[in-house]
Amino acid sequence: MNDIITTACKFVTSSIGRKIIVALTGTCLLLFLVGHLAGNMTIWGGSEWINTYATGLHTMPAWLLWAIRLGLLAIVLIHAVLTLVLKLENTRARTPYQMEGTMKATLSSRTMVYTGVMIVCFLLFHLWQLTINGDPADCYGHVLHAFSNEWCSLFYIVAICCLFMHVRHGVQSVMQTFGLATRKVRPLYNIIAVLFGIAVCGGFIAIPVAVLTGLLR
Ligand code: HEM
Repeated sequence: MNDIITTACKFVTSSIGRKIIVALTGTCLLLFLVGHLAGNMTIWGGSEWINTYATGLHTMPAWLLWAIRLGLLAIVLIHAVLTLVLKLENTRARTPYQMEGTMKATLSSRTMVYTGVMIVCFLLFHLWQLTINGDPADCYGHVLHAFSNEWCSLFYIVAICCLFMHVRHGVQSVMQTFGLATRKVRPLYNIIAVLFGIAVCGGFIAIPVAVLTGLLR
């Protein structure tokens, strides 16, 4: 038992161990995004579809719903804390020569901490607006009411653009951590990351845009 604990501690305190945990938690969050987007897509079927979907979510046993919510929260916290630790370690270990190298890094990779903070702020607002003050039986009405406010829609669109940058770099990093991004195939993974980001974030942004343009009413 002691051996398992010692090995686990060594893994978490090693740089590669932390990178793997960040990649695994990031993958879980990406899967959550795909699942959440799939659920949100029911809005295109009309009020009955999304209301049935939202009510369905709440018919699962309360312990299961809370286990999923707390699990998600733990994943977000582990992902954020370990990413910051890795970032601090990288900054400390960098030589002036390597510092110059960061100039070539993409905008997405250089702004990961900022886009991450923006996503957390967005999530707090989103949970307050649609989960705490929402009503699953009238999910459609709540979403429409929220996005009829231009400022609210604008905030969602800006936050989801930050999410795009974060997801784009995240998908690439996950592939790199798991050793999938060899120099030869790296450009292909770049394209996959961009397409994934556009599909997921475009799907989310389409909803406030459709409400503002009157396509959803
Ligand atoms: C236009 C875009 C979006 C719409 C219309 C939307 C809609 C919703 C709705 C209606 C709920 C409440 C579900 C319920 O409990 O009844 C919800 C919950 C949630 N959303 Fe979103 N969402 C959007 C974007 C996002 C994004 C981009 C993220 C993540 C970055 C996100 C993360 C969450 C989370 C974590 C919950 C809480 C789930 C729970 O109840 O435990 N959402 N969303």
